Amino acid sequence: MSRKLFVTTALPYANAPFHIGHIMEYIQADIWVRFQRMREDDGIPREVHFVCADDVHGAPIMIAAEKAGKTPQEFVAEIAATRQGTLNGFHIAFDNWDSTDSEDNHILSRDIYLRLKGEGLIEERTVEQFFDPVKNMFLPDRYVKGECPRCGAKDQNGDSCESCSSVYAPTELKSPHSVLTGAPPVIRSSEHFFFRLSDPRCVAFLREWTLSENSAAPRLQPEVANKAREWLTGKEGEETGLSDWDISRDAPYFGIEIPDAPGKYFYVWLDAPVGYLASLRSYFRKTGRDFEAFISDPGTEQYHFIGKDIIYFHTLFWPAMLHFSGRKVPDNVFVHGFVTVSGEKMSKSRGTGISPRRYLDIGMDPEWLRYYIAAKLNAHVEDMDFAAEDFIARVNADLVGKYVNIASRAAGFIIKRFSGTVDIGSPGEPDSFLGQLRGVSDSIAAAYEAREYSRALREIMHCADKVNAYADMHKPWILVKDPARTPLLLEVCSSILEAFRILTIYLKPVLPALAEKVAIFLNVPSLQWKDVQTPLPKGHIIHPYTHLLQRVSSAQFDALLSDASPPTNPLPPDAPSPFDEEPLSPEITIDDFSRVDLRIAKIVDCSLVDGADRLLRLSVDVGEGRLRQVFAGIRSAYQPEQLIGQMTVLVANLAPRKMKFGISEGMVLAASGSAGTGIYILQPWAGAAPGMRVR
Ligand code: MSP
Ligand code: ZN
Repeated sequence: MSRKLFVTTALPYANAPFHIGHIMEYIQADIWVRFQRMREDDGIPREVHFVCADDVHGAPIMIAAEKAGKTPQEFVAEIAATRQGTLNGFHIAFDNWDSTDSEDNHILSRDIYLRLKGEGLIEERTVEQFFDPVKNMFLPDRYVKGECPRCGAKDQNGDSCESCSSVYAPTELKSPHSVLTGAPPVIRSSEHFFFRLSDPRCVAFLREWTLSENSAAPRLQPEVANKAREWLTGKEGEETGLSDWDISRDAPYFGIEIPDAPGKYFYVWLDAPVGYLASLRSYFRKTGRDFEAFISDPGTEQYHFIGKDIIYFHTLFWPAMLHFSGRKVPDNVFVHGFVTVSGEKMSKSRGTGISPRRYLDIGMDPEWLRYYIAAKLNAHVEDMDFAAEDFIARVNADLVGKYVNIASRAAGFIIKRFSGTVDIGSPGEPDSFLGQLRGVSDSIAAAYEAREYSRALREIMHCADKVNAYADMHKPWILVKDPARTPLLLEVCSSILEAFRILTIYLKPVLPALAEKVAIFLNVPSLQWKDVQTPLPKGHIIHPYTHLLQRVSSAQFDALLSDASPPTNPLPPDAPSPFDEEPLSPEITIDDFSRVDLRIAKIVDCSLVDGADRLLRLSVDVGEGRLRQVFAGIRSAYQPEQLIGQMTVLVANLAPRKMKFGISEGMVLAASGSAGTGIYILQPWAGAAPGMRVR
């Protein structure tokens, strides 16, 4: 037995770069796909194919391209060129990214249409519509504006009034004008093609597909099924039935021409979902697989991740199109809510919201966002608010504070005291500390499978709490002082690392890049779900701890939400932890510390030192009524003029030291990590004055 999965996300309109709502959807789906690919421990291998594409057709894109002085093809190609970089940046691993204007989509869309026609489900009808006589094209509702026929408000849309909220037909508007040319539109009739959803066959099929009336388990999420019920049976339960669906548009239109109907094109929403199949088809061709065999296999499970605004298309039109063209229908649609930013609806026009591109460009870590989104997602159609404080708290307190830090609590001791060799002692009974961590594997897997990611992460963080409590109880930093307790130190630190390995497997669908780093650090070839149950063997050797993940700062958020330049980040993403090069120094008491007299110092003057290319000569004021001369090895990082007038911190009671160039009366504080990561002078916050003590 094996599972064959075909997974998609909604195809984004190709008129703009990704926004955070798109990325949220892709991350949701990517986590699910990665989880499925890790999960063969239940004895069921999975074949998972995960595709998407740009949705390029339709009037708005055609008009936007014209405004930009480009052909629609050029216009959408420019957007397409930006896609892969952003997807890679967030570790979103589609197998294929295509376009709905591909050859495959033209072929499949026509084929599906012709089969629907063959079933007698396509009907031709004459439709009256506004026509722009200057532009020579029919106008979609939102391209006509005029005065409200009810209240007289000016500049209202063709279908409803924002001022009095009334709804009307575009032909009722007073003094209507075309948004494109300003010309008064005329009414013209045209032949349109309709998909006869009102046909009793369609209604019967859709009732069954959406409401699962004859099957044991409901297919759709409850909220989604309720919507479908409303649409199919009306609000008060009266059978309103479905309206037929107008699937054609007149030239000029950027789209796929309808067979045997020159000048008529498929409405964009007809060929868009076919793009799911087309993307898979082209991917299968490229990789030498049999598309028709896979897609028509009753065992293939087909899932579409979508947002709540496109439920109608995915629960009514799309299953009906597939079913009545003789194809397999989707197994389900997984619907999510909308992302809001700090409680506000994202607005494309106002340009608020968070730019995924900028997020990456200013060096924010993609896995922070993946973790944050996962921590807030469940299987319901709920909106998700994106708020800076919340993000910072979850990433710093939970992800870094509880999970990432576990590794550094034990790795140093294993490397220094045991040459990197671990031994977790007894294999771990089911009720032991490690046994418990292994025992929740099925429950966490079930949460991922059900797209209850917030529950999965809560369980994982609960495990992390247990690991930290274990470390706090056994105190390796105390054990290390007592040679008699070396065996216990080894067992405790090894167990902490084994626990870290288990947690990393649990988090891997969410944090794939971090998991790869951990695999290298722990020197393990694989982190698959089944590996939870196989402990690190006695004698296994780990590598020195490498930097895994930084904390996020509020300054980074300020930069994300504004045009402010981002804070510079001294550590390159893959730099080793400074602790590798310089382990923690022996513990001191507060009295030890207070022997060091640190004072705020103002750098009054600064100059180069002849014959010493690493040094700067500083003249500092520490509020003593005189200036001190201090030499500092910071020439590589600062020009003298950058420092003059700046405040810093001085070790004021350091014994004066006679150097070749003169006496140095103290030492300024600066941070440095491993080679090449720079030197950074410490600066107090505004308000600190020369001479103040730092304690
Ligand atoms: N092109 C259509 C989909 C065709 S699928 C055959 C479309 N494109 S879209 O770019 O407007 O939206 C793409 C996806 O992003 C949809 O699933 C939509 O629900 C989702 N989102 C758009 N705005 C969103 C938020 N603010 N939050 C979360 N998801 C959002 O619709
Ligand atoms: Zn009105």
